[in-house]
Amino acid sequence: MSSYRSRILGVGAYVPPRVVTNHELASLMETSNEWIIERTGIEERRWVSDGQTGAQMAAKASEQALERAGVPAQDVDMIIYATLSPDYNFPGTGVFVQRLLGLKEIPCLDIRQQCTGFIYGLSIADSFIRSGQYKNILVIGSEIHSSGIDVTTRGRDVAVLFGDGAGAALVGRAVDDQQLILSTHLHADGSEAEILWTEYPASCHNPRITVEAMNEAKHFPRMVGKKVFKHAVTRMPQAIMEGMVKNQVQLKDIDMVIPHQANLRINQMVAQMIGLPPEKMHNNIQKYGNTTAASIPICMNEAIELGKIQRGHLVCLVAFGAGLTWGSVFLRY
Ligand code: ACO
Repeated sequence: MSSYRSRILGVGAYVPPRVVTNHELASLMETSNEWIIERTGIEERRWVSDGQTGAQMAAKASEQALERAGVPAQDVDMIIYATLSPDYNFPGTGVFVQRLLGLKEIPCLDIRQQCTGFIYGLSIADSFIRSGQYKNILVIGSEIHSSGIDVTTRGRDVAVLFGDGAGAALVGRAVDDQQLILSTHLHADGSEAEILWTEYPASCHNPRITVEAMNEAKHFPRMVGKKVFKHAVTRMPQAIMEGMVKNQVQLKDIDMVIPHQANLRINQMVAQMIGLPPEKMHNNIQKYGNTTAASIPICMNEAIELGKIQRGHLVCLVAFGAGLTWGSVFLRY
C-alpha cells in the first residue's frame, strides 16, 4: 500500500475579456437587471469571442496554476478535464489542452459531471496520487455556455444564469499535514436526470438532431428551476456535513467555504441553513455568472488572490449540478 497523500500545489483561472451585462441581455430578451439580480445575484458574465475555445481558456488557467505551483508543464503526469460543453463531440477537450501546453503522451481524461465536475476531478486526482501512479495532475474545469444558450425570451430562465470561463488546479504529492486533501465525497442520483439537461443532439436519437427538435428548442439546456433550487439547498449542506463528520471538525474550524456558483441566493440560503457566518463563504457569481465546472476553481482562485484563503487554511469546496450530482472536498490549502 502506498502512503502518498495529495495537496493543491497551485490554482489558476482565466475568463474571456468580453463582459456581458444584464442590461445587454435585456436588449436581447424580455428580462431586466432588477429581475436577474433579485433572483440570482448575477450582475454580469463573460462570453468568449473571436472563436476562442474551451481548450484555449483551460490552457491559460493551467499555465497560471503551474506558474504558481512552481512546477514546469513537463512535470505534469495527467490531465483531468471537467466540462459539460466540450469543444467537440469527440475527442475530449483534454487532448487539445495537452497539445497547447506542449505535452506528449500523458493520459487525458474528460469527465462529465457538470457543476460537480471539478469536485469529481479532484477526487480522481487524489486517488491517482494516493495510489502512487501519478505525481502531478492538472484538474481543469472549462466551459463555453454562450454558444449553447437560447438568448431569446423563450430561453431567458437559463440564458441569464450562465457564463464562460476556466479554472485549474495542479494537484501533487503532500509533504506534510499542513497542505493536504483531507477527504472527498461524491454522490449522484439519476432518478430526476431530466430536470436539468440538454437533450439534443443525442446518439440515442436517429437522426441525432432534427429541425423539429430545434424548433422546440430541445438543443438548448432546459431546467425545472425550482426543483434544481431545492436539490441545491438540500444536497450542499449534506455534503458539507458529511465532510465535517469524516474529518471530525466543526464549522468554527473551517476557514473558507467555496460553493459552486449557480445562484447567490442558493449559497446564502446554504450558509444560513448550516449557521455559517457570511464571511466564511466566498462568492463571485456577481461578476461571472454560473461557469459550471469552472466556477469552483475561478472562485477559489479569487479567494486566494484576495488573501481569504491562505496556506494551511481548512477549506471546504462544495457543489451540486445536473445528473443530479453533488459532493464536497475538504482540504488544508
Ligand atoms: N427574466 C424575467 N423573468 C423571468 C426570467 C428572466 N430571466 N426567467 C423566468 N422569468 C419569469 C418566469 O417566466 C415566471 O413568469 P410567470 O410567473 O409569469 O410564469 C417568473 O419569472 C418566475 O419564474 P420562476 O421560474 O418561478 O422563478 P424562480 O423564482 O424559480 O427563479 C431561477 C428562477 C432563478 C432560475 C431559480 O429557479 C433558480 O435559481 N433555480 C436553480 C437554478 C440553478 O441553480 N441552475 C444551475 C444548475 S447548474 C448545473 O448543474 C448546470
